[in-house]
Amino acid sequence: MTEEPLLSIRGLRAGYGGIPVVFHLDLDVGEGEIVALLGANGAGKTTTLRAVSGMIPPMAGTVTLAGERMSGRPAQRIARLGVVHIPEGRGIFPSLEVDETLRLAATMAGVPRRGVAGTVDEMYATFPALARRRGQAARHLSGGEQQMLALARGLIHGPRVLMIDEMSQGLAPTVVDALFALVGSLPQRGVSLLLVEQFVSRALQLASRAYVLEKGEVSYAGSAAALAADEAFVRGSYLGDAGEPAPVMPGGRTADKQAPPAGGPGGVPPNIGG
Ligand SMILES: Nc1ncnc2c1ncn2[C@@H]1O[C@H](COP(=O)(O)OP(=O)(O)O)[C@@H](O)[C@H]1O
Ligand SMILES: [Mg+2]
Repeated sequence: MTEEPLLSIRGLRAGYGGIPVVFHLDLDVGEGEIVALLGANGAGKTTTLRAVSGMIPPMAGTVTLAGERMSGRPAQRIARLGVVHIPEGRGIFPSLEVDETLRLAATMAGVPRRGVAGTVDEMYATFPALARRRGQAARHLSGGEQQMLALARGLIHGPRVLMIDEMSQGLAPTVVDALFALVGSLPQRGVSLLLVEQFVSRALQLASRAYVLEKGEVSYAGSAAALAADEAFVRGSYLGDAGEPAPVMPGGRTADKQAPPAGGPGGVPPNIGG
């Protein structure tokens, strides 16, 4: 790459309680690029996203956005600077109404009070299904609608890089299709993507490049098309055995929680769920 990548991760080490589960990871996302981050359960994909977004502090390494250092900053600052993480499990507040969720997100993103309603309306234009549910508590939404809410909350920050963890988890194929169509259009609107996905072949269709993590280390970095042509990899991924079984950590995993969001006014993607 001749130009500096938009997002650049160098020598990232991350883990829990002082024990690394991701070792010396290098990863780039170029401007306008869609990059897939793949690997078996427990490989360290979620941990990577958490460390990049500042949800957990990196143990070593640097993350830069357009040359500006992100690593070491608090999560909310990183989100406002344009690196936004949509967590596995969506991380939405079940009792908060859709409208409250989005207004809170806009406020956290630094939208001035008088701009909040307009910013939220932009999200309703993008996701008409959410507009129809604006007064409902998030727990009453379908899985697809909850994922739309999580996406809208992320997009409100006006991200330059959106990192989405397991977007299609638990969703019907038609809903997944609609979400992929939306997400695939984001680069035209200035949002570059780092996708962690179980639907490996779909992710590889959308992405130009892919990384495969195995036990916290990159085992493949290169063309998504070349990886998609590797039948053994794709088949193995579907069976969830593209690596060793995930070690069980004492105390198990904690639920994904996302600090309330931050950032500038979002781009306006095409609408979905109309
Ligand atoms: N909150 C946590 N505390 C301790 N260990 C964790 C935590 N979250 C994940 N792990 C461990 O870190 C490793 C990588 O997990 P994770 O990043 O969630 O993998 P992936 O997203 O690729 O499935 C696994 O061994 C997992 O058990
Ligand atoms: Mg994960």
